[in-house]
Amino acid sequence: MSRLVVVSNRVGAAKSSRPASEGGLAVALRAALQERGGVWFGWSGKVLASDYETPSMAEVGNITYATIDLNQRDYDDYYKGFANSTLWPLFHYRLDLAEFSRKTWAGYQRVNAHFAHRLQPLLRDTDTIWVHDYHFTLLAENLRSAGCKQKLGFFLHIPWPALPILAALPMHSEIVKALCAFDLLGFQTDEDLWCFQDYIRREAGGEVGKNGIIKAFGRVLRAKTFPIGVDTEVFAKMATESEGSKQVERLQKSLNNRDLIIGVDRLDYSKGLINRVEAFEHLLTTYPDNRGNVVFLQITPPSRGDVSDYVDIRHELEATAGRVNGTFAEYDWGPIRYLNKSFSRRVLAGFHRVSKVGLVTPFRDGMNLVAKEFVAAQSSEDPGVLVLSRFAGAARELDGALIVNPYDTEGVAERLQEALTMPLKARQDRWQSMYQAVAVNDVTTWRENFLQALKRGGRAR
Ligand code: F6P
Repeated sequence: MSRLVVVSNRVGAAKSSRPASEGGLAVALRAALQERGGVWFGWSGKVLASDYETPSMAEVGNITYATIDLNQRDYDDYYKGFANSTLWPLFHYRLDLAEFSRKTWAGYQRVNAHFAHRLQPLLRDTDTIWVHDYHFTLLAENLRSAGCKQKLGFFLHIPWPALPILAALPMHSEIVKALCAFDLLGFQTDEDLWCFQDYIRREAGGEVGKNGIIKAFGRVLRAKTFPIGVDTEVFAKMATESEGSKQVERLQKSLNNRDLIIGVDRLDYSKGLINRVEAFEHLLTTYPDNRGNVVFLQITPPSRGDVSDYVDIRHELEATAGRVNGTFAEYDWGPIRYLNKSFSRRVLAGFHRVSKVGLVTPFRDGMNLVAKEFVAAQSSEDPGVLVLSRFAGAARELDGALIVNPYDTEGVAERLQEALTMPLKARQDRWQSMYQAVAVNDVTTWRENFLQALKRGGRAR
């Protein structure tokens, strides 16, 4: 078994035990690194006033954690700039928010080149290298130019946009060409893959053959779909254990037998949060029996707070939730509990378990693991109902959910009412089919499917 090198912008904590906040993905990657031996390489999360230093190295068991600090200019141009003010909005179909600047593009190229340069001396000839997400689309091309011949895989955690959206990016061709230096490209859904193939055929003049083979820019590689999963069993167990915890008991006591609708999202404009609150407002207006009897708990840890669009969405959400509470609240009941902070996964699992409805309504989402975690956390005797956006990758697999269009806030309100009043047997049937899906394709299966495909796949060149 060859050694594994994982590259991601955020690197899991260099600890042998699992930190409370750590998600299933980090745990699954660490387990593979521990088993095969390997390196986890990425940004330290620190921004230095001065210039770069050499990577910091920490050895824990079989894993070397190698992290690099960014200087202020590169943080601004690469992370805040091109990654999160250009690629993120564009890949989530928010052309109106995407900024196009040669300066931030240069920063993105600089950081990709620098990371490749720092990674190369850590590599062995037989390593398998797995790069994650939109921060590092140029990494393989940089490594290949430096002579790297190892197997190189890339998984995109966010959506891949349709051709007319991507074509708005002035440097679309450079990015796709650089991606073609990988041996294997992984996408979340078939739709993402089709959009990529469409680009290859129509824009790059390349070929799409059998078994995911792509020929483009003088290179041969594979592109396939690998829908990411969650740590289903672990999360289900956490939910059961957490049900009797202090926090969950406190929550239940405060509800006083009212039904709970739960939303858990990073504070991001792609999550459809304003429309979600408006949908809840429609619910209270159209179905007034819910007044006083339903509580909507929206847990929204702040994210990328120094990018201006994130500041705007925060203000707008505060205003919208405040307006709805101001309109409907009574002295003994508040309709929305809007929390701007994070909780441990264990507590969240317990909160999911005692919720009647999981409300997941992104405008666009690569997969949305919260939807899968909500399913994993339910009890088979009395499961809650998932109300899920058709624009989340998870909607392809979770056909037992009530699928909604998040832009249609009145439609979402109707489905919320259906969820709140759904008979037990229908809830159980829907949940069974979803649980089956998240149990079969969990995060470990996803990881192994990708690594097996990378092992089998031919070399790009
Ligand atoms: O889901 C995409 C992603 O970029 C993850 O890779 C990351 O952990 C998360 O969003 C949070 O974003 P950030 O790393 O920018 O805080």
